[in-house]
Amino acid sequence: MVRYQLPKLPYSYDDLEPHIDKQTMMIHHQRHHQSYVDGLNKVLAEISGSSHPQYITSILSDLTPIPENLQKKIKFFGGGFENHRLLWEMMNPDGGGIPGGRLADSIDVYFNSFEEFKEIFSMEALSIEGSGWSWLVFNQTFNKIEIITTKNQDSPWILNKIPLLGLDLWEHAYYLKHQNLRADYISSWWNVVNWDYVSNRFSELSG
Ligand SMILES: [Fe+2]
Repeated sequence: MVRYQLPKLPYSYDDLEPHIDKQTMMIHHQRHHQSYVDGLNKVLAEISGSSHPQYITSILSDLTPIPENLQKKIKFFGGGFENHRLLWEMMNPDGGGIPGGRLADSIDVYFNSFEEFKEIFSMEALSIEGSGWSWLVFNQTFNKIEIITTKNQDSPWILNKIPLLGLDLWEHAYYLKHQNLRADYISSWWNVVNWDYVSNRFSELSG
């Protein structure tokens, strides 16, 4: 049986300071992400081995083989595991700035400019009621990029969309530093976006 583990951060807890603070990073990674890892392993243990040999993104893309009473848990813990795994990779102490390469061209095509993209993404992130995520995704069906939001820990994979860039809008991601000021958190986060990682994901997908 596949057992998932808490992935290591690609940098230190305080490396994203002052934009994302050390204490938030520690609690977010060691407690919140760990709880999704543990929850996912627990729910997978309840399912017979034959129904989950694939990686979690494949499972999320088609929940039909999962017993109906466990689909909600898989969505929550599996989404929580994978969303956070990506979140750490999508940030970097040397991040920020603007994307390059083909992603930059595609953003210009679908959003007119990087500034307009950033504004729409931030507005969507602000508009989420309760907990959720804001995403830039690759829509394979139409071979285009889109901005979407998801509730709770829903992953873009359950919509058959591939996450390129994701922002965690749960209060646990920002409350210690920013309290209820979500807009401040969003503007801080742009300073650490790992555009190299995001651009490379896009280049591989849009081949
Ligand atoms: Fe989170």
